[in-house]
Amino acid sequence: MEAAMRSFFLHLAQNRTLSGMAKRYGLRYGAQRFVAGETVESAIETVRKMNRNGMGVTLDHLGEFVEDERDARASTDFCLHTLEAIHEAGVNSSLSLKMTQLGLDIRKDLCHQHMLEILDYASARDIWVNIDMEDFGHCQITLDLFREFAASYQKVQTVIQAYLYRSEKDVEELAQMGASIRIVKGAYKEPATVAYPEKSDVDNNYKRLLDIHLPSPGLTSIATHDENMINHAKQVIAEHGLSQDKYEFQMLFGIRSDLQEQLAREGYPVRIYVPYGDDWYGYFMRRLAERPANVGFVVRGMFH
Ligand code: FDA
Repeated sequence: MEAAMRSFFLHLAQNRTLSGMAKRYGLRYGAQRFVAGETVESAIETVRKMNRNGMGVTLDHLGEFVEDERDARASTDFCLHTLEAIHEAGVNSSLSLKMTQLGLDIRKDLCHQHMLEILDYASARDIWVNIDMEDFGHCQITLDLFREFAASYQKVQTVIQAYLYRSEKDVEELAQMGASIRIVKGAYKEPATVAYPEKSDVDNNYKRLLDIHLPSPGLTSIATHDENMINHAKQVIAEHGLSQDKYEFQMLFGIRSDLQEQLAREGYPVRIYVPYGDDWYGYFMRRLAERPANVGFVVRGMFH
């Protein structure tokens, strides 16, 4: 039943008509729990609040399914605007983005050009940029572009998904490069030809990836709400005596806030992924897929 619900919501996440309708009708039906408002001002307000609680943030201006060059340009401008707002407010936040927002599916060179603009702007202001990992079809090209950017920019990171069979080899190579990565379990609907179908295999692989990357020179962002993964990371950190500039825990806005605050209180570096903007539909559907019990929030939200 749980697997069927997951598949259902991941299928909905890809629906462009519903995504367009969601944009028109605004942030409703429970999405507020996972999204920090529609404007950059509301996002910065949330960053300030998180910073006051001892946590960093990574801001993500939501967007998917960019189909023409004008939309890709607009998304690039939103990223630049977000970086400007972070810099002007003087808050502790990085930027997370998806390269399909910047035109990766239209023309690789267009996306490349937009990324260089963003990375130049961010590095001049000493702000990290994270390139989120999307579905398997974009994995190789994302890693190829990331390797190129990481050769010229210090504060750029990408994401590795533990559900993919290929990830162990990718992490070994990235660790050798001294690259900075965020490790996640993986949020898209992938076939068994490329991804572990069983949760226990994904969890075991997640721990293996931590074992490989945590002791390497680059920053490891341990992005999970799973206490087993977090405890495993804590053990590796203690065994290797890792300094705090080598790792951080990351969680999503609105999920396990108790655990976020607990880790911060224990003195671990914590960063919260805070999405904002009006294109919240796909992101919200993937959160429902992870935990169908969240549907209760949506139903309650409809009656507010
Ligand atoms: P798991 O799904 O096993 O959940 C562990 C526990 O966390 C659950 O038992 C529950 O308590 C809680 N939980 C998890 N999801 C919840 C939800 N939606 N609502 C309420 N409780 C929930 N993926 C990707 O493919 N590409 C990416 O770039 C990113 N980026 C990213 C950044 C950050 C900071 C995080 C934390 C996650 C991502 N992800 C991602 C998403 C990731 O792949 C994964 O889908 C989620 O983190 C859920 O997996 P967990 O590791 O939390 O474990």
